[in-house]
Amino acid sequence: MNDYYGELCTRIYEIDKSYAGDIELDFYLSFVQDLNMRVLEPMCGNGRMLIPFMQKGINIEGFDISEEMLNVCKEKGKGLNLKPNVYYEKLEEFKGDKVYDLIIIPFGSFSLLPDALVNKSLSNLKSALTSKGKLLLTIMLKYDGIEEIPEWMELDQIQFKDEWIVSYKKVHYNEEESMLITQLKYESVKNGQIEKTEIMDLPIRLYDIEEFENTLKYNGLHHIVIHRLRDGYGKGTICYVIECSA
Ligand SMILES: C[S@@+](CC[C@H](N)C(=O)[O-])C[C@H]1O[C@@H](n2cnc3c(N)ncnc32)[C@H](O)[C@@H]1O
Repeated sequence: MNDYYGELCTRIYEIDKSYAGDIELDFYLSFVQDLNMRVLEPMCGNGRMLIPFMQKGINIEGFDISEEMLNVCKEKGKGLNLKPNVYYEKLEEFKGDKVYDLIIIPFGSFSLLPDALVNKSLSNLKSALTSKGKLLLTIMLKYDGIEEIPEWMELDQIQFKDEWIVSYKKVHYNEEESMLITQLKYESVKNGQIEKTEIMDLPIRLYDIEEFENTLKYNGLHHIVIHRLRDGYGKGTICYVIECSA
């Protein structure tokens, strides 16, 4: 059994990642010059970025492969009198019938794609851009001192009324393939009994920036600018956003 961004995972994600923080949000908003621009967010998840965009009146749509994440996005929108235009779609199979002035993939999400899907996905993104359109995407970068966790390590216990969700993690680093093979486990516990378990494989491709720039160029994406965003994912963090266009 493998649940990819399933129900329990999505509920935990919502706890501290319901909405993008101001620094990250303002950065992405700075690329929207007027409300007539068409914006697309592939891998939009729970609408962390998409909903604040909608609240500003921006014409944005998104897609994702997690029905749970998409449902949370729609419900969150409903609570704000918004109707998010989000749907199920795989980035590697995306062939939209429109083009967009801005495409965003925040929060390292592009690193969730295995190497075999990268070129197809970039080609689909390129085809979906207007001639002056910009793509802003984020990847997870290689870092030193990766800590492997061979056995389940408890991460957190979160209480929801009479239920606790306990989360665990395992990590293995395949250096040859630059893959951080992460597994997450979520247990829903009621009255001391485990009522539901979700196990999620989360392989993450770690990149060197130069390597990824070459991949973009190989796929016909140019005018590359690397933005370094201090405190983008919270105080003390640095996030890199890669801007490019066709
Ligand atoms: C870490 S979440 C981030 C969501 C969002 N980008 C954000 O900034 O909060 C990654 C999302 O990517 C989605 N995803 C993973 N692989 C995908 C694919 N091949 N096509 C579309 N969505 C995908 C997952 O379902 C998940 O909701």
